[in-house]
Amino acid sequence: MSAPDSITVRAPAKINLSLAVGAPRPDGFHPLNTVYQAISLYDDVRVCDAPQWQVEVTPLGEVDVSAVPLDESNIVVRAGRLLAGRHGLDRAARIEIHKGIPVAGGMAGGSADAAAALVALDRWWALETADDDLLALAAELGSDVPFALVGGSAHGTGRGERVEPLTDRGSYWWVVVPDQDGLSTPEVYREFDRLHPEWPDGDPPDPVGVLSALMSGNAGHLGDYLRNDLEEPALSLRPALAERVATVERTHAGPVLLSGSGPTVLALARSREEATGTRQRLVEIGFRAVLVATGPVAGAHVVGPT
Ligand code: C5P
Repeated sequence: MSAPDSITVRAPAKINLSLAVGAPRPDGFHPLNTVYQAISLYDDVRVCDAPQWQVEVTPLGEVDVSAVPLDESNIVVRAGRLLAGRHGLDRAARIEIHKGIPVAGGMAGGSADAAAALVALDRWWALETADDDLLALAAELGSDVPFALVGGSAHGTGRGERVEPLTDRGSYWWVVVPDQDGLSTPEVYREFDRLHPEWPDGDPPDPVGVLSALMSGNAGHLGDYLRNDLEEPALSLRPALAERVATVERTHAGPVLLSGSGPTVLALARSREEATGTRQRLVEIGFRAVLVATGPVAGAHVVGPT
C-alpha cells in the first residue's frame, strides 16, 4: 500500500444550550458558564504538503463561504504555525476546508476548522502531541477551540476554554436557521457591555437545570432551561432578527433560541420527523439553507483517507 498523500479531519459545529455571561475581566474577555453541545454539521479539513501555507475553501450545500479569508489570517494557518512552532518545526501545508457549518453564525465554524487543523497536522507530521498540550494550543487560538476538540456535551467555564465533558443520556434534534448576514462576536459582547454597564463581577451561575436535564436525557426538560445571555445584545444590534425568531416560534411547536452570539436561530425538536416538518414549513415561507442536525456528536476526528 502506498503512503497517503493527505489526511482529513472532521470537526462539528457547536451550540450553547446555556450561555451565562459575566462582566468583562481585566483582559477584556467575559467569564462564561456555558453548556456546549456538538451537533452534526461539520467542516472537513484536509491537509497535505506544500512549500508555503495555502488555504482553499469549498462550500457544502448552501453554505456561503464568501467571508472566509483565504490568506494567512485564516485561523487554520494560525493553528498550523502554532503547532509547528511548539515542536520547533519549519514546515507549511496546504489546507482545504470543506464547509458545512454556517459562517459567522454563532456556531464556532472557524473554531472547528482550527481544531481540525491541529488534529490533522499533528497526525500528518507524526508529532503525537499530548492531549493536554493540544487543548492548551487550542485555547490559545480561541475560546471555543478546545470544545471543538472534545465534542459531545460539555460544561465550559473561564472564557469558555475550560471544558469538562458531561454525561448526556439524550439525543436531540435541532432545526438550524442560518442568516444571510453574519454577526461579529466581539461586537455582540461589546453590545452586552453597553446594555449592562452595572453587571456584577465574578463567575456567572452554574446551569443546574440544563445539567440535570442532560443527566436524565429528557429533551422536554432541556427545553425548559435553555438560556442565552447574548440573545438580547444580538437582537439589539440587529432588530430584524427579532422578527426571524418570532417567525420560527410561530412555525415550530417547541423551544427556540439564538445560537451563541447569533444570528443563527435554533429550534429544539423531539424527533427527526418533527425537525424535518419544521424545516419544510420554514422553507415554504421563504427561509433559505435551513438544516436539520442531531447532537451530541464527537469532536474533531480523522475521517480519511478511507
Ligand atoms: O476567543 P475568541 O477569539 O473566539 O473570541 C473572539 C472575541 O469574542 C474576543 O476577542 C472577545 O471580544 C469576545 N469574547 C469575549 N468573552 C469570551 C469569549 C469571546 O469577550 N468569553
